[in-house]
Amino acid sequence: MIFVPESILVTGGAGFIGSNFIHSFMANNQRCMVTNLDCLTYAGNLENLTALEGNPNYRFVKGDIGDTELVAGVLAGQKIDAVVHFAAESHVDRSITGPEIFIRTNVLGTQILLEESRKHWQSGLVPDFRFLQISTDEVYGSLGDTGYFTEETPLAANSPYSASKAGADLLVRAYHETFGMPTLNTRCSNNYGPYHFPEKLIPLLIHNIINKKPLPVYGDGLNVRDWLHVRDHASAIETVLKAAAPGSVYNIGGNNEWKNIDIVNLVCDLLDERLERAEGENRTLITYVKDRPGHDRRYAIDASRLKNDLGWSPSFTFEQGIAETIDWYLANQKWVEEVTSGAYRDYYKKQYGGGAA
Ligand code: NAD
Ligand code: DAU
Repeated sequence: MIFVPESILVTGGAGFIGSNFIHSFMANNQRCMVTNLDCLTYAGNLENLTALEGNPNYRFVKGDIGDTELVAGVLAGQKIDAVVHFAAESHVDRSITGPEIFIRTNVLGTQILLEESRKHWQSGLVPDFRFLQISTDEVYGSLGDTGYFTEETPLAANSPYSASKAGADLLVRAYHETFGMPTLNTRCSNNYGPYHFPEKLIPLLIHNIINKKPLPVYGDGLNVRDWLHVRDHASAIETVLKAAAPGSVYNIGGNNEWKNIDIVNLVCDLLDERLERAEGENRTLITYVKDRPGHDRRYAIDASRLKNDLGWSPSFTFEQGIAETIDWYLANQKWVEEVTSGAYRDYYKKQYGGGAA
């Protein structure tokens, strides 16, 4: 049975994946109302969504997922029948230097959102309901040279970030088991694509190469990540939301493992061509630095359940996706400048007359 939502609440929709999801979901579901609840941390940028201004099916609410009254009001006021929960602190390095906000947002915030969703779902205001928790392969911990994370892999988070996401995933599971709430849980590998905040590896590399700044490679550069284009993540989420059985967990990934140093070299070389620099010039910027504490060695996702049950597969090849991503950053240098300078925060003030969080 396909679930067709009429009014969804997207949390964290001003961030990297949330904003890409809103764009693709709204293009595919023109009759569905989309409410974006985001408190606009450093990572939330409304400029990612300017194309939707004036769209009667899109509504932005500035607020915190931990604000019980606000969340309850949005759920009832908008007759929300699905929550797609992206809002989180998402950067591993920040979770090492300041874990508290990760617990507050990712664990406590998720619990408040779940609890308000439970009351709303049980009120019977909407005929059917889904709560979709967007999670990460990092909850499974680290792999050796072989093997893959499946949905049965035990949770073994190693960073405060991944521990907070694992905590949230277990709460989601608990709301299904205890209350019978129709929850869903996806766990995706590393995303790349437009609107990615330049603290994360790929956009950081592009930004630093353009500006001839050092490219920090943690440790020996041989850690492995499994990369998926953000629009493929968005299509997988839409598939799970509409077609998965309540209570299910799905891994999302595209079988695309890369050693960090190979990604660094690839981005360097693609930008040598585009910036008309000598072959190999950008590689001279590579600088090995101290390793990230607790740095997971390898992630690799087995997404066969999603393919076999729901027929999803990625549409971007990595070759196409990484080239398009680099071209997007080159064409959107103003976005990058504003994000790196903090000037993007003025946008909210101009549009909405208030201050960003
Ligand atoms: P992001 O940091 O770019 O965006 C997070 C968004 O959440 C921002 O817009 C921020 O303002 C908002 N937010 C933070 N705290 C909030 C709060 N208390 N209330 C309301 N809004 C709040 O993150 P992202 O990379 O887009 O990741 C989105 C989700 O996907 C996260 O849950 C993350 O764990 C998960 N995920 C990310 C990746 C990845 O590669 N980036 C992979 C798998 C899963
Ligand atoms: O796997 C999914 C996860 O991917 C998401 O849950 C996280 O929200 C997301 O941030 C991402 O986490 P990573 O830690 O894998 O991403 P990051 O871009 O920070 O780092 C990718 C790899 O590159 C990792 O092995 C660390 C390394 N790295 C990162 C940075 C920022 C470097 O070598 N140098 C750097 O400067």
